[in-house]
Amino acid sequence: MNILIIGSGGREHALAWKLARSPRASRVFVAPGNAGTATDGNDIENVSIKETDFPALIKFAKDNKIGLTVVGPEVPLCAGIVDAFQAEQLRIFGPNKLAARIEGSKVFCKEILRKGSVPTAIHHTFTNGNDAIQFLKDRDIPIVVKADGLAAGKGVFVCSDRSESIDAILRITKSREFGNAGDRIILEERLDGQEASVLAITDGATILTLQPAQDHKAAYDGDTGPNTGGMGAYSPTPIVDDATLHWIEEHIFVPTLHALKRSDVVFRGVLYAGLMLTKHEPKVLEYNARFGDPECQPLLMRLKTDLLDIFEATIDGTLDQLSPLEWDSRTAVCVVMASKGYPESYEKGFPIRGLAEAANISDTKVFHAGTAIREDGTIVSNGGRVLSVTGLGNSVSEAKLAAYTAVKCIRWDGAWCRKDISDKALSY
Ligand code: AMP
Ligand code: GLY
Repeated sequence: MNILIIGSGGREHALAWKLARSPRASRVFVAPGNAGTATDGNDIENVSIKETDFPALIKFAKDNKIGLTVVGPEVPLCAGIVDAFQAEQLRIFGPNKLAARIEGSKVFCKEILRKGSVPTAIHHTFTNGNDAIQFLKDRDIPIVVKADGLAAGKGVFVCSDRSESIDAILRITKSREFGNAGDRIILEERLDGQEASVLAITDGATILTLQPAQDHKAAYDGDTGPNTGGMGAYSPTPIVDDATLHWIEEHIFVPTLHALKRSDVVFRGVLYAGLMLTKHEPKVLEYNARFGDPECQPLLMRLKTDLLDIFEATIDGTLDQLSPLEWDSRTAVCVVMASKGYPESYEKGFPIRGLAEAANISDTKVFHAGTAIREDGTIVSNGGRVLSVTGLGNSVSEAKLAAYTAVKCIRWDGAWCRKDISDKALSY
């Protein structure tokens, strides 16, 4: 079967790498892909089509007899790529436009959580900045201010006091930093605890909960510095033990799916719960409608089951017939190597050296994210998050050592990474 993957990050490289290993996969195309997907074996190749150019993607899928399309990022999902493909009788993995709203609108997400009595932060929705500021009048407490719509992870402000909260409200509603995404805002209680990412694959009826992972969203060591798309992740994480995972399935995923159904929404795809493990219970911070990046990379390094079987069963609504998922019992640690300046502005185009040496380190895999390949074959940096270097080991420390051993081989002007990815597991 020919497969098309949409997106260009580390997540999409991992999806291509994993799907290409399926005995039923023939050619795997990635649109638009990166230098990693351009060079990772003969059966994976890039297609120069943007992830939001639906007519061109549909034409490509038809011309190349694509049997399955997989969507990595949220933007095409929320713009309705799944509906567009389905209207042409093309098989595609991911939630449709209505279902993707669980990520595309934080207000919709909260409505579903309320409908399902799913644990989440206490919150209020506002359509007007002045009302939100008025609400804070007698409340000088830590508050989180969120823009309703997609804002590439930047529309959330974790504030310590009223003046910070007011500043955030004004940035969203007055300066309109996030455009229409800021038409509505949410003010919610600030929760404390460790964060975990628990992802599930669902066909709308059956839920396959994946192994738990932990992301590292802050830019610098010790969880300091600005928020990023994720500087590293590992799986499994001891902060979510089997009993907690069960609890999450029962009290978070099951009622969420029921609430979606009662709202006439069928969710087929990856439901990613961003959780805060509070003193009392895990609470939902947000839902994403796709694999996390970088969580996807360690998860797929560990998944033994054929991913193509899982995706097809999701589309067919037959996940209940699939055998239980099989996992490598080892831990996978993924370290993101980034460009100087990320998550603020950064330069691109620096030649990356040492990739061949890194490829020789056993039990590691370098997934590319923001990379490009020049005509002379040189691989250069082409984004903020450049590489996600993933290592496997019998313990968290061994996996961490494997990943950082590969990281040490790689260099380019301004390359940096966090040095403490997975340490939260060790101190737990
Ligand atoms: P979100 O996009 O909603 O996941 O928010 C991005 C990040 O903001 C999360 O990963 C948390 O680190 C933080 N965050 C969001 N909501 C809250 C909350 N209610 N309490 C504390 N931190 C939060
Ligand atoms: N790693 C966070 C995300 O994918 O949204």
